[in-house]
Amino acid sequence: MRIVLLGAPGSGKGTQAALLRDRLKLVHISTGDLLRQARAAGTPLGLKAQAAMDKGELVSDDIVLDMLEERLSQPDVGVGIIFDGYPRNLAQAASLDALLARLKQPLQCAVLLEVAESTLLERLAERARKEGRVDDTPATIKHRLKVYQDQTEPVVGHYQASGLVRKVHGEGSVEEIYARVAGAICG
Ligand code: AP5
Repeated sequence: MRIVLLGAPGSGKGTQAALLRDRLKLVHISTGDLLRQARAAGTPLGLKAQAAMDKGELVSDDIVLDMLEERLSQPDVGVGIIFDGYPRNLAQAASLDALLARLKQPLQCAVLLEVAESTLLERLAERARKEGRVDDTPATIKHRLKVYQDQTEPVVGHYQASGLVRKVHGEGSVEEIYARVAGAICG
């Protein structure tokens, strides 16, 4: 099973992907987590990514694709994969299509978590209070939402054209949303 999770910052992609990983034994590939790890480890790639991440901009496609290809070459990915935070623009969607075609492992579906902007803002403000993630400041959150609208929303249209999109109401408790996501991918 290969699934893409789509949704704005704060829509719950990481939260739902972690549950899918644990309960369906899928591999969770989050480009945001991979970049944060590279950054914390001070690798050349992490240092290159840092400035863009702090501003809420996308990191360059070639950096993210290299990192993704490296992760996909690891032996655990045969079972099934949830892509969280990738693809983020149409060029990344084309790269992922080509990569999966080469591996003869096409996507099953793209789940879009739909969440009102007021809820996104509340969740990210709460995370800023609890965790202090560097890109959860009010100005950077606003910019990340704009980047999502401008660059990532067209990816939804890309997958809609292939009939892969499953829209899920992304508000309510984490378990309520999980039940909808699981129904959408298995139904
Ligand atoms: P990334 O880490 O992907 O961040 P994001 O897309 O902005 O997503 P978030 O982590 O903010 O939200 P989420 O949808 O995962 O929600 P979550 O489950 O965490 O990317 C960060 C940066 O890395 C980018 O800005 C960019 O610079 C770079 N990057 C990453 N991928 C890239 C790519 N492919 N190309 C280029 N650059 C890339 O939930 C959010 C909060 O809400 C949490 O605190 C959670 O506990 C809470 N929550 C979740 N569900 C609920 C619920 N039902 N009720 C109440 N609270 C909830």
